[in-house]
Amino acid sequence: MKYRLAVLASGRGSNLQALINAIKERKLEAEIAVVISDNPCAQALSRAKEHGIPAFTAERKDFQTRELFEQFILDKVREYKCDLVCLAGFMRILSPYFINNSPVKIINIHPSLLPAFPGLHAQKQALDYGVKYSGCTVHFVDEGTDSGPIILQAVVPVYDADTEETLAERILNEEHRIYPEAVKLVLEGKVEVRGRRVVRLEG
Ligand code: GRF
Repeated sequence: MKYRLAVLASGRGSNLQALINAIKERKLEAEIAVVISDNPCAQALSRAKEHGIPAFTAERKDFQTRELFEQFILDKVREYKCDLVCLAGFMRILSPYFINNSPVKIINIHPSLLPAFPGLHAQKQALDYGVKYSGCTVHFVDEGTDSGPIILQAVVPVYDADTEETLAERILNEEHRIYPEAVKLVLEGKVEVRGRRVVRLEG
């Protein structure tokens, strides 16, 4: 049985593309069942369409309440029988309503070594702080901002000459590598959450 993913994205969609590529290369035995964006101009939507993946736009302004907006997304997750929700540059904080009503787990990728630099502009935060290493984190989504249990991380060096763009690009390469890996671990039940820790199961 192939696992089915829902991917939520607001922009460029390069992490969506990394998942599509990993599936095509048979590194991930899954299919992307549905892509949902809150931004009608998101490149993620055109990437989905190019690959024949059902894609929907849900603009927050078209729903009277946040709950109705989130309900629309949850309905798609159910309708497309998804096994996991992957946030990939989804620029909206999901409310406790979404998290508590989701039939499946939700994971996110963030461009810093959490718990350092949560929230927006993580690469700029890292440069401004002056860290010598940064990276990316895949984590389960809980009710906080970028605060859920950590599944995988990857580290990159920060160089003196870095700009936000050069650092973001170095981190992005690692994002594209670890996101499919983390999705695979979660889908195949190879990890278990014990308190704050995500531990690898044997076998
Ligand atoms: C990535 O840096 C991701 O870590 C963050 O948003 C960005 C999305 O990029 N959450 P893309 O849309 O996947 O190219």
